[in-house]
Amino acid sequence: MVDADQLAAHLEFFKELGIDGMRRDSIWRARSEPPPAPAEPASADVVTRAVPEPGGSGPGDPLTIAPPAVPLFATEEEALRALRADIGEECSRCKLHSLGRRQIVFGVGNPNADLMFVGEAPGADEDIQGEPFVGRAGQLLTKIIEAIGLRREDVYIANVIKCRPPGNRNPEPDEVQQCQPFLFRQIDIVKPKVIVALGKFAAQCLLETDVPITRIRGREFAYRDAILIPTYHPAYLLRTPSAKRDVWEDMKRVRAILDDGK
Ligand code: URA
Repeated sequence: MVDADQLAAHLEFFKELGIDGMRRDSIWRARSEPPPAPAEPASADVVTRAVPEPGGSGPGDPLTIAPPAVPLFATEEEALRALRADIGEECSRCKLHSLGRRQIVFGVGNPNADLMFVGEAPGADEDIQGEPFVGRAGQLLTKIIEAIGLRREDVYIANVIKCRPPGNRNPEPDEVQQCQPFLFRQIDIVKPKVIVALGKFAAQCLLETDVPITRIRGREFAYRDAILIPTYHPAYLLRTPSAKRDVWEDMKRVRAILDDGK
C-alpha cells in the first residue's frame, strides 16, 4: 500500500522531473510482471572485490584459519560505532584535519540497510551538522529516496571522504587513500544489496576507473557483495535539471532490484 505521504513525495519528485503523466512500466508495476531485461554489462565492467584475508591463508589451507576481515560484533550498529571510534574524534590521518574541517562526517542511516548511497565528501552544511547530505543536494537526495517508497532513515548514506575539503575542492589522492578504507568497512558492515554511487568521484573511486560518469551510468556492476549503480550527483542535478530523468531511470532499476532481487 502506498500511503498519502509517499504519494505526495512521488508527485512532487515527478513534478520536478517534468513528468506530467504515468507510464505503465513505472516502478510501481505489479511484482508478477517480468522485470525489464537488464543491460548486459561487458565482462570488463564487472568488478568483484573479495574481502581481503589478513595473514594470506588461502581457503584451501587446512592448518590456518584466516581471522575475519571485519571483527565480530553483536549488531551492525555496534560494529559501526566501533568503526567510528576507530577513526577517532580528531582524526589526523590526512591533511584535511588542518585545512578547516570542523568535524568528521561519518555516515547516517539504517545499519542493516539494503540500499546504500555513497557521495564524495561533506560540504559546508554537512561539516556544520556532522551528517552527510543535509544541504540542498541532500534535500534532493532525500526526495529521490522518498520517490522510490523509502525514507531517509531506511537507507545508509556515507561519503568516500569523511572531512570537508577546503572550498569544496575535489578530494586529493592521498586523502582518498587514507579515508577510503573506512568506507569499505562501512560497506562490509552494512552489507547493502545495492550501492548507488552518487556522481563521478564516488563512482570512479569505487570502481577504480577513470571512465567518465556519462559512460558508466545506466550500467550495473558487481561490487563486493552488492550491485553498484552509478548515477549523477544530486548537486549536478541542481545545476542540470534535465539529467533528473536519467537518475529516475536508475532509481527505478534500484527499486526493481530491491523488490525482486534482480
Ligand atoms: N556532497 C557529497 O558528496 N556529500 C555530502 O555529504 C554532501 C554533498
